[in-house]
Amino acid sequence: MNQSSPSAAGTDPSTQAGTARRTGPSYVMLSCAHGAEGLVKSTIADEGWRLSFSRPGFVTAKHDQAHSPPSGIFIRTASQSLGSGKSGDADELIDRLLEATDSLELPVDHLHVWPRDRAPIGRFDFEPGPDEVSLAVADRIHARLGPERLRCATPNEIAQPSQRVLDVVLVDPSQWFFGIHTATTLPSRWPGGVQPVSPAYEPISRAYFKAAESIAWSGFDLRPDDLAVEVGSAPGGACGRLLEMGLHVIGVDPADMDPRIADHPRFIHYAARAGDLPRRVFRGAKWLLVDSTVKPDATLSTVRNLIDSRDTSFRGCLITMKLGDYERAEQIPRWQREVQRWRPKKLEVRHLARNRCEVCFAVTL
Ligand SMILES: C[S@@+](CC[C@H](N)C(=O)[O-])C[C@H]1O[C@@H](n2cnc3c(N)ncnc32)[C@H](O)[C@@H]1O
Repeated sequence: MNQSSPSAAGTDPSTQAGTARRTGPSYVMLSCAHGAEGLVKSTIADEGWRLSFSRPGFVTAKHDQAHSPPSGIFIRTASQSLGSGKSGDADELIDRLLEATDSLELPVDHLHVWPRDRAPIGRFDFEPGPDEVSLAVADRIHARLGPERLRCATPNEIAQPSQRVLDVVLVDPSQWFFGIHTATTLPSRWPGGVQPVSPAYEPISRAYFKAAESIAWSGFDLRPDDLAVEVGSAPGGACGRLLEMGLHVIGVDPADMDPRIADHPRFIHYAARAGDLPRRVFRGAKWLLVDSTVKPDATLSTVRNLIDSRDTSFRGCLITMKLGDYERAEQIPRWQREVQRWRPKKLEVRHLARNRCEVCFAVTL
């Protein structure tokens, strides 16, 4: 079995898992979307991280000083590295993981196991998150590590804030990387940073999952009977999520809605572009979702026109900004400055796990 171990190469055992090290160097492993690794690398290199092993969707790095794992728009998960192993025999890899956990304060609260994204999101219907192999591996690791090392009853449970999570990333089925992190933000509590969702009905489109993730991540307090507007609503995946949550929904899209949404008693469809409608149709709406296939600058001007009107009183906007390709991410700071001119209470930007080559702006008004 091949193995590489940051602990052998200098991990400070006096610092326990998931806390900042008192002395350097620091080792991290990061997950991101397949294709976004270049952006992750350039962001962390600017912070003094030296790049090490990487694959599409997975990056490791070392910092000479004590440093907590980096964060950023395109970083889906960040863990302190504990080493890695390469073998065709899963039990050998688990032996290696057992050794790696010796440096930790045990038991750890949770075990999260997930595969590196094997394709860009949406290509060949690929979706991020646990797959058949990672689920089987998770059960095997959980059984072998036992209650002495793991407190959780099952693997891949959602962690609570400040709980410590042992992370195993299957870069390939026979090459695993181990790490540890402390749960803080909602995505850091989800296994592999991917929201576990169980739809009540078969979603109409994958935008159902994207909407669910953006709503959860933003922390927006959407409540039953609130009115939400979605611009770019057809065929209706996101509207399906909003309706399932008990909201009233206005969908704005020149294209047809799926009949399961169109016929819903709490749904109204305007077959138009948002800019062509009188603002009064949005009166009383609290939440604005935008997912139209429109260039980001035009999207921002549409949103600005909607929120500037005396007829509207939106409290929060979840705006999908289509990049087209990752090189356009260099425009994000300019778009952030534009949104800051609206004087929002808060602006957060994230490449959601369910985003394709696009990012989500969560704007609290
Ligand atoms: C990615 S799809 C939206 C998926 C949808 N959110 C869902 O949940 O199923 C993009 C949609 O944007 C719509 N669109 C494009 N330009 C638009 C505009 N100016 N106003 C409203 N919708 C627009 C397209 O017709 C298309 O249906």
